[in-house]
Amino acid sequence: MEYTVKSGDPEKQRSACVVIGVFEGRKLSVSGKRLDEAAQGALTALLRRGDIEGKPGQTLLIHNPANLLCERLLLIGCGKEKEFNEGRYRETCAKMARALADTGATEAVVYLTELEVKGRDIAWKLRHTVESVESALYKFDRLKSHKSEKKRPLRKLILTVAKRSDLAPGETAVQQGLAISTGVHLARDLGNLPGNICTPSYLADQARELEHQYGVKTTVLEREDMEKLGMGALLSVARGSRQPPKLITIEYKGGKDDEPPVALVGKGLTFDAGGISIKPAAAMDEMKYDMCGGATVLGVIKAACELKLPVNLVGVIPSSENLPDGDANKPGDIVTSMSGQTIEVLNTDAEGRLILCDALTYTERFHPVAVVDIATLTGACVIALGNHASGLMSNNDQLARDLLAAGKYAHDRAWQLPVWDDYQKQLDSNFADMANIGGREGGAITAACFLARYTKKFKWAHLDIAGTAWKSGKEKGGTGRPVPLLITWLIQRCAAHPAK
Ligand code: BES
Ligand code: MN
Ligand code: ZN
Repeated sequence: MEYTVKSGDPEKQRSACVVIGVFEGRKLSVSGKRLDEAAQGALTALLRRGDIEGKPGQTLLIHNPANLLCERLLLIGCGKEKEFNEGRYRETCAKMARALADTGATEAVVYLTELEVKGRDIAWKLRHTVESVESALYKFDRLKSHKSEKKRPLRKLILTVAKRSDLAPGETAVQQGLAISTGVHLARDLGNLPGNICTPSYLADQARELEHQYGVKTTVLEREDMEKLGMGALLSVARGSRQPPKLITIEYKGGKDDEPPVALVGKGLTFDAGGISIKPAAAMDEMKYDMCGGATVLGVIKAACELKLPVNLVGVIPSSENLPDGDANKPGDIVTSMSGQTIEVLNTDAEGRLILCDALTYTERFHPVAVVDIATLTGACVIALGNHASGLMSNNDQLARDLLAAGKYAHDRAWQLPVWDDYQKQLDSNFADMANIGGREGGAITAACFLARYTKKFKWAHLDIAGTAWKSGKEKGGTGRPVPLLITWLIQRCAAHPAK
């Protein structure tokens, strides 16, 4: 979709469609009132007939509105004005996108941007308009033989701002919204691809594709390379699979040459059947999403490339399948990680931490200023936080605060859980340095405690995205989270420490 930012009066728009918000109680927005005046009260009369109350999600399309220049007027219900907030703003934009896509209009002028969202400026609103629209119009139909192509698709949105001085920050916000959407799109696509297509080799090819597109440096370690490095934990997970494991590294250099990078480490488990500790059959298909941490890393790097962010980044994606097999990990097996620490594999389904621990140790060689790992790591995190917040755990309070704040701005929120030493003893093993499971209690935390044993050398945060990376049920599909959180964090970091 093409977006332009413009300031202009609603009654002067000779557009295929003008979009206006209506609050509950049939209350027109400011621009709505102006249109009503220009139309000599035609809108008030129409509202009085009761076709739209202003409830969230309601829409009313009016063709050839009397005494107005536009061909169509689209009214969108925004709910109670007092309750209007960030989430509502985004839902309203998404609703608009879907309603517009159902019309024949190829362009529209949007006045939802005038609606007040407490504490948020025009830049926030424009960025989130773009993200919400792009997200609402996303579809994944590349594996369907009948695609739903429209003859006259919506091509252009003109986003209005109140003052000319809003134009420049508005443009920047639109660019950010578009770049984030590109990253989210990639992460959603990779998540939605099934395990028979999106294998570790496929993820490696996607990373090489970024190398071609943007000139980032991609390196892929093969099984033999990992053997040489002593990555016994990662390799043990791959033993049950016929797909070769990959350790994918992508280096993006937007900062100064000698500036230490931010490292993003993403779990790229392309299908998690659980291994010998096999999962129940119900909804097992959703374990194709177990690579969404890796997809997030690719999405963030793609967005950083689009934005030419002045920062150095290293993405590390350990990738494997986790399947039962005669040669697979068995409960009780003891493996030696690259760090030298030994691990008793009491449950082969706690494989994410096994591939991540070696990837984290490998990341040390880049001397990162901060490391964030992203993983669909535990069902326990979904029990704790549901599907709205990602779990955040960290060994550094400032890093945790920055990520939480970025998540708020991005409306891609995280919630912090403790990684206190008190939980560490749940990982005690009678036979090895640690067990790979810590029991039912605090499962998301003990998983992070396991990772904490491999991240002592740097500032580290862990995002457990098991509840947020995809949606189940009727709207099953990848969400692209937490790409918006991470890109926002990087943008905010760049603003706080500008390159000298
Ligand atoms: N990929 C799963 C976590 C998961 C489960 C994410 C369900 C989303 C929904 C992970 O590899 C796993 O299986 N974790 C186990 C750990 C347990 C054996 C300690 C879990 O959460 O059940
Ligand atoms: Mn598992
Ligand atoms: Zn898993």
